[in-house]
Amino acid sequence: MILADRPDGLFNETACFPSASIRSYLSDRDTRRLLLGFPMVATRSDPHGRHDWHSAEYVKDWIQNDVTKDESRRPMLTRMIERIPQDEDSVIHVLDVGAGYGELSLCVLKKFPKAQVVCHDFSEPMLEYARTRLTEFNDRVTYVKSDLSQSNWFALFEHPFDAVVSSIAIHNVRSPERIRGIYHEITGLLTASGCFLNCDLVFDNIGSHLQWLEADLKDVALFEQDGRMATFGGFK
Ligand SMILES: C[S@@+](CC[C@H](N)C(=O)[O-])C[C@H]1O[C@@H](n2cnc3c(N)ncnc32)[C@H](O)[C@@H]1O
Repeated sequence: MILADRPDGLFNETACFPSASIRSYLSDRDTRRLLLGFPMVATRSDPHGRHDWHSAEYVKDWIQNDVTKDESRRPMLTRMIERIPQDEDSVIHVLDVGAGYGELSLCVLKKFPKAQVVCHDFSEPMLEYARTRLTEFNDRVTYVKSDLSQSNWFALFEHPFDAVVSSIAIHNVRSPERIRGIYHEITGLLTASGCFLNCDLVFDNIGSHLQWLEADLKDVALFEQDGRMATFGGFK
């Protein structure tokens, strides 16, 4: 088994083994598995990790396990979207990046009854679950499929957003450089009074993430942190 560090921070895909910088993005469980000699399993949708987001079977199992955590994580998500500065009655456009089965979008749709939400993800099985889960909101929700690892992932959005929100999604891209790029691309999607709010696993230094955002946004802050889970963001 080859342990290969590449200068671009990614890993040698043929060896299926992540570089040191990618390993800093892994959970304790995955790090333990790596130390025990189990390689990460490269998948079509997560070449540097283990998730198989394009597999209907994998997504079904993942959701069955994850919904059990919805009740406990909802307060953190709710506190995050309370930071959207517009009145609850405003007609706002909100983008949920890596929306998965739509838990964060659901919070937004309930808190802002006139909001139009775009659920973004690159996994068709995930978007299918979101469509079912959010069916009662009909034309207040649209679904866009694109891959965050591609620098044109935002090309299909038709208008700017008053808020871009995301939960436990962007870290899946693994590459710190790409994550930094995504933050920059997101700020380009905001209206003049827009905000970006992110609740994500941060396996490296949260200070770097805040600095990346400060290049484009004001009032950047770490709003709360619970272990590796951090809620942070900024305003245009
Ligand atoms: C841990 S789930 C979180 C889903 C949802 N945001 C939530 O909080 O329940 C991660 C989501 O990110 C999506 N994702 C991972 N890599 C992606 C990529 N490169 N482009 C777009 N979406 C991606 C997955 O398909 C999955 O739906």
